[in-house]
Amino acid sequence: MTTITLETPVTGKYEQPVGLFINNEFIKGKKGQEFEVINPTNEKVICKVHEALEEDVDIAVAAARKAFASGSEYRTMSTARRGKLLLDLADLFEKNIDTLAAIESLDNGKSITMAKGDVGACIGCLRYYGGWADKIHGKVITTAEGTFAYTKREAVGVCGQIIPWNFPLLMWAWKIGPAIACGCTVVLKTAEQTPLSGLYAAKLCKEAGFPPGVVNVISGFGKTAGAAIANHMDIDKVAFTGSTLVGRSILKASASSNLKKVTLELGGKSPNIVFEDADIDEAISWVNFGIFYNHGQCCCAGSRIYVQESIYDEFVKKFKERAQKNVVGDPFHKDTFQGPQVSQLQYDRIMDYIKIGKDEGATIETGGERHGDVGYFIQPTIFSNVNHDMKIMQEEIFGPVCAIAKFKDIDDVLNIGNDSTYGLAAAVHTKNLNTAIKVSDGLKAGTVWVNQYNMLHWSLPFGGFRQSGIGRELGKAALENYTQIKTVSINMKGALF
Ligand code: NAI
Ligand code: MG
Repeated sequence: MTTITLETPVTGKYEQPVGLFINNEFIKGKKGQEFEVINPTNEKVICKVHEALEEDVDIAVAAARKAFASGSEYRTMSTARRGKLLLDLADLFEKNIDTLAAIESLDNGKSITMAKGDVGACIGCLRYYGGWADKIHGKVITTAEGTFAYTKREAVGVCGQIIPWNFPLLMWAWKIGPAIACGCTVVLKTAEQTPLSGLYAAKLCKEAGFPPGVVNVISGFGKTAGAAIANHMDIDKVAFTGSTLVGRSILKASASSNLKKVTLELGGKSPNIVFEDADIDEAISWVNFGIFYNHGQCCCAGSRIYVQESIYDEFVKKFKERAQKNVVGDPFHKDTFQGPQVSQLQYDRIMDYIKIGKDEGATIETGGERHGDVGYFIQPTIFSNVNHDMKIMQEEIFGPVCAIAKFKDIDDVLNIGNDSTYGLAAAVHTKNLNTAIKVSDGLKAGTVWVNQYNMLHWSLPFGGFRQSGIGRELGKAALENYTQIKTVSINMKGALF
């Protein structure tokens, strides 16, 4: 069976595809393997999905290659029609918002309110790139009188896309939106922890009229299906979001296979900086959202919190009170802010970091323990008295755990804020415009928020400085990853000699 009946508190019974989505059909893997999908709220098996191995990746790539072939239905459709595919897909996301959000809450554990927010952001992203499809142009360039050349932005080709489990649907939309706008075809591998929403969204691609093979969505593991994508000789580009460790292996795989183009969106340890002149209650609200949103499972989580020394004590006291009010529990309850971590493995990794923080001598202001008896829940955790060199200040924890330290002035906070191998995001809270701009200029980060946090938007480029990544997603910038420039230079002067 490649579709099964599942149930959620929001949708009641619904039909969930569980096959590999290749050529607009849900099919079984060649070897017939399946793997279990776990509900992180109760640790129970939701269902099994079909698993892609290397030979299935080959089949998906062949489908994507065929759909990309010159003269295919996809290649010959107008750019406006291609954009309309994304617009129609966005409409279907809108029509199915409750189901998509419920699947996300079921499989990932994020609260239904946040999951709806994610689907809303998917809709925005798909519409944004739908709008771009017929506006991707080249240039005319003259280098001297009588010369004439033009550039075209041509689709890169077959794209492998490997996405993580923290925003299963949103990462799907961030990857598929610009790829289709540019005329590429796609083999997307979802994360093994959260395959369900991506398959449901694949079904909507078919409904929206995508020709077969344009979007292929497969479930599978990193070391098998993921590595097969990264090493594939007939994939022209890989877009990856996930850990820095795996990001490195993707680059290596490109180097040792066909030099496919690679964009990486990796980890972070982002500084969130609060100056003494900030509105302290607003700042606390953003700092709380900065670290605890999505259970701390955000690449851009504001996990290093630097507070100017004069307001440090007051800040810590109020922040602690604020964090204790975050409602942790059943993702399907309307008041829940924080659900479970995505998996036992992530739960264990985070609890290890909490132990390391304690052993290193930092102080737990609040949290530090599991929440409840069942499910991968962890209390919102704040460490104070954290030295710059401690692991909990240096390494990405990817959970509801943050470290707070004091700073003296702008120079001091820029020094410690920038002392990281990462550079994904940062924030500064202040009422002083000069401070905001000076600190934003000084921070080595791909995104700097002023008096807010986590406020991503599809029209704003997002990506990392330093080891947080290569390339940008979202905005017009993402179109560069899915097109390559062809220069056509025309002779109008006859023979050279
Ligand atoms: P991961 O990097 O192993 O997984 C992300 C994706 O990469 C998944 O689809 C996975 O199947 C795939 N993958 C894994 N190994 C691969 C390989 N050798 N070749 C190709 N694809 C491969 O991340 P994981 O283990 O789920 O989480 C570990 C840590 O990574 C987290 O604690 C967090 O620090 C970081 N992370 C960062 C994310 C981000 O948004 N930047 C998202 C998820 C994890
Ligand atoms: Mg799951």
